[in-house]
Amino acid sequence: FISAPGPNDLLIQEGAILVSSTDGHGTIEKTSWTAQNNKDALAEFNLLEGDVDVFEAPQNGFFFPGFIDTHIHAPQYPNAGIFGKSTLLDWLTTYTFPLEASIGDTGPTAETNGTPTSPTNSDQPFPKKRKLTPLSRAHKVYTKVIDRTLRNGTTTASYFATLSVPATDLLASIAHTRGQRAYIGRVCMDHPDTCPDFYRNETPEQTIQHATESIEYIQRLDPEGELVAPIVTPRFAPSCQAETLARLGQLASTRNLRVQTHISENVGEVELVAQLFPQRKNYTDVYDHAGLLTPRTILAHAIHLSDDEISTIAQRNSKISHCPASNSALGSGFCPVRKLLDAGLDVSLGTDVSGGYSVSILDSVRQTCLVSRQLGYVNGGEKRWNIGVTEGLWLATVGGARCVGMGGRLGGFEVGMLWDVQEVVLDEVDADGDDGEGDDGKGQVDIFGWENWEERVDKWVWNGDDRNVRRVWVGGRLVHERR
Ligand code: GUN
Ligand code: FE
Repeated sequence: FISAPGPNDLLIQEGAILVSSTDGHGTIEKTSWTAQNNKDALAEFNLLEGDVDVFEAPQNGFFFPGFIDTHIHAPQYPNAGIFGKSTLLDWLTTYTFPLEASIGDTGPTAETNGTPTSPTNSDQPFPKKRKLTPLSRAHKVYTKVIDRTLRNGTTTASYFATLSVPATDLLASIAHTRGQRAYIGRVCMDHPDTCPDFYRNETPEQTIQHATESIEYIQRLDPEGELVAPIVTPRFAPSCQAETLARLGQLASTRNLRVQTHISENVGEVELVAQLFPQRKNYTDVYDHAGLLTPRTILAHAIHLSDDEISTIAQRNSKISHCPASNSALGSGFCPVRKLLDAGLDVSLGTDVSGGYSVSILDSVRQTCLVSRQLGYVNGGEKRWNIGVTEGLWLATVGGARCVGMGGRLGGFEVGMLWDVQEVVLDEVDADGDDGEGDDGKGQVDIFGWENWEERVDKWVWNGDDRNVRRVWVGGRLVHERR
């Protein structure tokens, strides 16, 4: 069992873990770090053989806490890798708004009567030949994105959907059926000067009504909200009217909901916010004034914040999603992660598909390391900016857990935490003892045998991908198995 409980603490433990299969959550009930074999472990747990299902880590691998992607746009997945030479604002109008508008009918609840359904269990297969309707496009894209993220070890994701209420509800249903822990946000945007006519709400009234419909659907789907829960999602300040932001702030506060949005990603965006909200001190103040900066708020990017803004965010205890692949792809800038951490902020990682080109949080860990070094270079070669593999993995797990309000419940192997776990395999031992033909769960990171576990983890982070993820569990339920 390998985990990163601290920024400089890679914990490597051998032993056994007992996970409850009856509490409805998949909670870790007991751990044993002394047992030498299954028999010892069973004795220590006061169990008999046959009482439990046993899952063993392969000799060439380990269990690692599932990754938490705190910022991803599910409807943008078809555009992953497609961004040309654009930067944020022209990328939105050229690539993103047209795609999002095509994923689900953007009118009110057009294709559902508001009753939770399980679309992936439907016996009506996805129509192959007919021209896709907006909702069938949503089904195709959302099924794919949840499958892809799970197979990359993402056990929890905070999703932006689109304006479409039925398609957003569908995303929640698919996540629920597949068993991914997911926060689902119906995107709110209604500013007539910044949103295209084909993709926006007309009035704050409508925006709030549609957001509320989607929240209520998701809460009916999962009343406890432990697996799937709604998240209030103003796209970003420029796309919302001031009244809308304020009313979304109220909505989040009266219903005690999570919030997610973008902040200070691009210099042109920051200027646009100053133009659109001249009465506010800065970008952060726009959200703060609307009551949107809460301890349950995830702010993506946070690249160009002033010291004053960082201190406001710290006071509100709002969270940061660092999206390095997107920041590099769209040329948005260097996020000063070290400075944010030093200011006491909780920071996590996001793929930001499709500003980011990859659904893999492992790739976000790599990009976090690389960008931190470039930032050190432009700051006179100061090493303090550097983020290494362990700290990157800590951001991807413990950091993510804190940012989605699951601190202490996700991200590690402690008693009381949930079994949201990926089984990572490298490529040393041929599990079925054959000549390596066929797929017996091997990954594709070459291990020569003399590397210690820390070095193996380094090699996994720099060279691994979804081929190294053999099994994935969420809340104790097996949700992906590589075949
Ligand atoms: N700002 C507003 N909308 C978006 C989006 O979809 N992606 C990114 N990266 N930034 C945004
Ligand atoms: Fe984004």
